[in-house]
Amino acid sequence: MKEKIDELLSEVAAFKAENNEQLEDFRIKLLGSKGKIKALFVDFKNVPNEQKKEVGQLINTLKVKAQDKLDEFKSKLAGGDHTSANDMDLTRTATPVKLGSRHPISIVRNEIIDIFARIGFTVSEGPEVEDDWHNFSALNFPPEHPARDMQDTFFVESEEGDMALRTHTSSVQVRIMENTAPPIRTLSPGRVYRNEAISARAHCFFHQVEGLYIAENVSFADLKQTLMYFAKEMFGEKTKIRLRPSYFPFTEPSAEMDVSCSVCSGKGCNVCKYTRYLEIMGCGMVDPNVLENCGIDSKKYTGFAFGMGVERIAMLKYKVNDLRLYSEGDVRFLEQFKAAF
Ligand code: DAH
Repeated sequence: MKEKIDELLSEVAAFKAENNEQLEDFRIKLLGSKGKIKALFVDFKNVPNEQKKEVGQLINTLKVKAQDKLDEFKSKLAGGDHTSANDMDLTRTATPVKLGSRHPISIVRNEIIDIFARIGFTVSEGPEVEDDWHNFSALNFPPEHPARDMQDTFFVESEEGDMALRTHTSSVQVRIMENTAPPIRTLSPGRVYRNEAISARAHCFFHQVEGLYIAENVSFADLKQTLMYFAKEMFGEKTKIRLRPSYFPFTEPSAEMDVSCSVCSGKGCNVCKYTRYLEIMGCGMVDPNVLENCGIDSKKYTGFAFGMGVERIAMLKYKVNDLRLYSEGDVRFLEQFKAAF
């Protein structure tokens, strides 16, 4: 047995492959499932016990050397001249493939999600074609209420009743509240629709990221601190925030949040129209009616919610001056975000 192993060791040491066929032959003969090394392992059971350790080690050395040899020639042949037709990939293009870039909306959406993920927010998604309950009624917009005028949309007739293209991703928050017991801490990113004439400042679809936090003893101070953290992460450490009273049917109290203008650092410029602040989102404490509509005990739990338009944040971050650019697919526009991954 030992002589046989010695013989094979010298065979391995002397081996040289000139092409892939020879290398494959070598592999099958030595390392294949019916190869010589396998045969040694089979014969191994006949080796007297006192020699088992030594012979076992020798076989293992042989196996390692054969494998090393195989690897050595594999990389030599791959890097050297391609003698075999199998080495050529005839399906590869002759010209290099041009790499695309991420869309600015995706870049900014991912950044928002990243910032909130660091303080424990998960991501939840829902349908773009929604029923009246999830988009309006559960959120305290009764039928015929004038608040619905702020969010006119496109209606779709279907067998399950009339549906609408969702006007905000607050509808996803309703779905989450209906199906999850608090504490809830989630972000709902997605595309939303409004019946608006298309212009530089408005579009019939855009993207939002909305956030929801529901637990015991959540207060307005928690909302303010969370949004301040977000503003500083997104626009820089020196950013200041300002909350102005506002109205949304689903939050009480409600506010609009402004951030100090990142273009002029709050000195006044034509981007902030000399107001030193820019409005970036709506927010507030979730109205107890909304909690009850979704089966959450409003005596035990409180929560806050906020929602922002991704296009708006991207406009401020990259100084984009026309909303239509985002959906025109013009490569000259999109190429400018190559480095911004
Ligand atoms: N859904 C609102 C909109 O689309 C934005 C918003 C305001 C969302 C306040 C919220 C909120 O979650 O609390 O205009």
